[in-house]
Amino acid sequence: MGIIKVLTVVLSVGLVLGHNHNQQKEQDAKYNWWQHEVFYQIYPRSFQDSNQDGIGDLRGITSRLEYFKETGITAVWLSPIYESPMVDFGYDISNYTNIQPEYGTLEDFDALIARANELGVKVILDFVPNHSSNKHPWFIKSVARDPEYENFYVWEDGTLLANGTRVPPNNWLSVFSGSAWEWNDERQQYYLRQFTYGQPDLNYRNPAVIQAMDDVMLFWLNKGIAGFRIDAIIYIYEDAQLRDEPRSGATDDPNLENYLDHIYTRNQPEDYGLLQHWRQLLDNYSATHDGPLRIMMTEGYASVAQLMEYYEDANGVQGPEFPFNFDFITELNENSTAADFVFYIQRWLIYMPHGHVANWVMGNHDNPRVASRFGPKTVDAMNMLLMTLPGIAITYNGEELGMTDYRDISWSDTVDQPACEAGRDNYKWISRDPERTPMQWNDGLNAGFSNASHTWLPMNPNYRELNLRNQQVARRSHYKNYQSLLKLRQLPVLRNGSFVPEVVNRRVFAFKRELKGEHSLLTILNVKNGTEVVDIGDFIDQPNRLSVLVTGAESQYRVGDRLKAEAIELAPYEGLVIQLNKRK
Ligand code: NOJ
Repeated sequence: MGIIKVLTVVLSVGLVLGHNHNQQKEQDAKYNWWQHEVFYQIYPRSFQDSNQDGIGDLRGITSRLEYFKETGITAVWLSPIYESPMVDFGYDISNYTNIQPEYGTLEDFDALIARANELGVKVILDFVPNHSSNKHPWFIKSVARDPEYENFYVWEDGTLLANGTRVPPNNWLSVFSGSAWEWNDERQQYYLRQFTYGQPDLNYRNPAVIQAMDDVMLFWLNKGIAGFRIDAIIYIYEDAQLRDEPRSGATDDPNLENYLDHIYTRNQPEDYGLLQHWRQLLDNYSATHDGPLRIMMTEGYASVAQLMEYYEDANGVQGPEFPFNFDFITELNENSTAADFVFYIQRWLIYMPHGHVANWVMGNHDNPRVASRFGPKTVDAMNMLLMTLPGIAITYNGEELGMTDYRDISWSDTVDQPACEAGRDNYKWISRDPERTPMQWNDGLNAGFSNASHTWLPMNPNYRELNLRNQQVARRSHYKNYQSLLKLRQLPVLRNGSFVPEVVNRRVFAFKRELKGEHSLLTILNVKNGTEVVDIGDFIDQPNRLSVLVTGAESQYRVGDRLKAEAIELAPYEGLVIQLNKRK
């Protein structure tokens, strides 16, 4: 073979390989983008008001998009923004394809997406398929027995007792207490509503409902979103025979949802099938359109075994990219030991079917905030934990600042429906208003959230000290800690490294992230209120030099400080991220 020919062969092989390599990279970017994301939840009503009505809105969000860029966030998910009577603040939708007027217009939404695209921020919308509002035209027509909508909801006669009273068809309970059946005078039937009276359950045994909801998904996909957070997925189907649920034994109060073991109303086999149908819809859409794989993340509080079925069913058929992992909210609290933390982290990883990606939800609009669940001193350590575990991290707005619940909201200012239903004596501990107070941007009027004289929820008065601006100018702060963690997440060792945990003692745990050719990282956390001096010499490969990479705002350490593995001192609730440098 002449030299020219050899060169041509080498060159063209190189080109083909290069081409394949680029194609591979593009495919990875398209299909795997979500696997190491931080998804930041925006609660639109409380994020930023742009028109002085005291209610957050879309233009407000758009005006704050640069904040994500500055922070290092590249994907956000928005709680519902659709037309709604707001009985459950947008989780009761009266028009799935229009924007709630208080929040803006479809044009405002287009503008939000356009700006987000420019800044490289992907937008995920909340999809609420289990129930609509009772003010939705579908429901109104269903009540009127319009043949097209007659079976759009779950209607039942109930039972007429000998004494003439009518009772619901079975003992099913609402998540928000009391019977899940609501009597409708006009239609003379009960409708199923697993949340408030204003949220009738849609009937997914009716193919027209599935079609209608597919159309809703396509409507928003065509607006350029990157996927959906799917609300209340575990409630979608109920037992077709309407069987009574057995008692759980957890409480004697028959009105409380945990009075029953929900074997006929939650996690029914058909739920998984519906998600697989949506999986196909999203996959087809992604394959035929530019842009990233459109993803699904599902919301549902269920056992770990049940949640794993959402990743994929027993036959390996795929569902959503991931079901939210709420263990940091439901299983762990200020009383948890180091072993409890490691146990629940490992439990998710052990149960998760092969080839899937873990996720960790640190907070949301339905649960007390980190600073209020684990204590204000834990904020930095909890963010270190969240950001250095393998997989996806989910942050609720304000958690990067360590915002706290405002539990002292008065009865007259209370707006959360379940709290209102609980009454004056009981509302305080049930209410979700405390974690929904507006974002604390600065120490000005209403913390920079709104120029209105009245905001939809009162501001947490601590905004004068606890706000973004203060934390941006401070040398060290929760926000700066959060920012450095997001930068750190770019490291290959955090993207792809192995995970090795260790319970050091009852109060301290650590884990290593290791990847060939990269420096290993170690996260260490003291989960209790006392100073600890621990020896982790056995846990890390010796000989190693330890240098501090990330510290909390109050730490005695500085970035770059050297530590001795035999005696690491941790202040109460202190967390550290440490780099392990092999000694040459
Ligand atoms: C879960 C949502 O996060 C919550 O806010 C809502 O009340 C219920 N689903 C019902 O949609």
